Amino acid sequence: MENLSPRAGELEAIETASRDEMSALQLERMKWSLNHAYENSAFYRQRFDEVGVHPSDLKTLADLAKFPFTSKKDLRDTYPFGMFAVPREKLARIHASSGTTGKPTVVGYTAGDIDTWSIVVARSIRAAGGRAGDLVHVAYGYGLFTGGLGAHYGAEKLGCTVVPISGGMTERQVTLMQDFKPRIIMVTPSYMLSILDEFRRQGIDPRESSLAVGIFGAEPWTNAMREEIEHSFDMHAVDIYGLSEVMGPGVASECVETKDGLHIWEDHFYPEIIDPVTGEVVPDGELGELVFTTLTKEGLPIIRYRTRDLTRLLPGTARAMRRMEKVTGRSDDMMILRGVNVFPTQIEEQILKCRGLAPHFQIELTRSGRMDNMTVHVESTLEAADEMARTGSAKELTHHIKSVVGVTTKITVHPPGSVARSEGKAKRVVDNRPKE
Ligand code: DLL
Repeated sequence: MENLSPRAGELEAIETASRDEMSALQLERMKWSLNHAYENSAFYRQRFDEVGVHPSDLKTLADLAKFPFTSKKDLRDTYPFGMFAVPREKLARIHASSGTTGKPTVVGYTAGDIDTWSIVVARSIRAAGGRAGDLVHVAYGYGLFTGGLGAHYGAEKLGCTVVPISGGMTERQVTLMQDFKPRIIMVTPSYMLSILDEFRRQGIDPRESSLAVGIFGAEPWTNAMREEIEHSFDMHAVDIYGLSEVMGPGVASECVETKDGLHIWEDHFYPEIIDPVTGEVVPDGELGELVFTTLTKEGLPIIRYRTRDLTRLLPGTARAMRRMEKVTGRSDDMMILRGVNVFPTQIEEQILKCRGLAPHFQIELTRSGRMDNMTVHVESTLEAADEMARTGSAKELTHHIKSVVGVTTKITVHPPGSVARSEGKAKRVVDNRPKE
């Protein structure tokens, strides 16, 4: 694989700033953001007044802990535009995420916000090894989801040529990749696996494709999956993180030269890690729930938004900005089986250890009596599709999950192609337990 470290002069000044410079900029911007929210959003004014805090109470970055949290529920309760800090006419764009229940959460961007967003996505693509002039295949979904358009504007900002193909029609994705020869692909890791299958189905060696870098996010994925994709395509696979409430893709991103977690673009998004039960801020290095405050966003300033994503903050390496560890999962995705906490990423890791199993899987939860049971539906690879091989793989996976994760699961190994494929975010858990 190519060495894609940045050359001297390619980074923005802030990417190599000292910690003091970064903190000074953050404090100045945080004061602006709190004032903007308080002065221009009735929601925030009421929230701050209720607990008796005022933006002028913020003297240091640590004072942010005095301010109340916001959550997805607040966006739902104020649906559609109730948290915004500018009149609707000043918004250039709306996005929304569907969520599992009820109304979508709606977010809005001024023209200035779109510009900031493009800058951070351009920075993310550059961190991944992209450069002006690259051809970028964007297979994140376009539409209300922030993935497609977020990636698109960032790639254009960097000076790339964008192919806005969106998700789906996998056969055509492969044909166009063969014809246009993209250097970069931006897509969910689970959809990348469907694209991989399609390369093989068409008899094309994926290692011979033009792809040099994949920028994968929008769902949790493991380092084991990284190795699988890097090996299959002979390309770099880097992680990009974001959420619509805070901006979209490009809140944090990995650097290709280190691949050691995601640098949070802290000049625009201020991170905290809290204990999810007490809400107390925990020191850097400790695992907890990620909370974000936007520092420059105009349309929908977000103050102390509880993401439900679990991670820890680590010092900067390839860039001045602090890193967040690869997200293991959302607190909402955590399954509890006989007292043991299990995340789908832990199952993914074990599947990738077993020869004969393809990384397509779905977890089914059922209940017998008062006991919850977990069945992992997974596929065999083409080479290992016969009954004997499948039984062997199932045994091996049961053993790995029991000894590493610590839970007993039922494994069903299906023939190749029979587990549901994703064209965007994969649905990893199907809950068939009776509703209470
Ligand atoms: O998924 C934005 C995005 C698009 C990010 C494309 C990266 C690439 P939402 O639909 O609002 O926005 O979902 C946000 O997805 O809170 C995480 O739980 C999860 N997520 C996003 N990126 C990652 C990642 C987009 N790299 C939610 N690793 C977040 C793990 C991720 N989880």
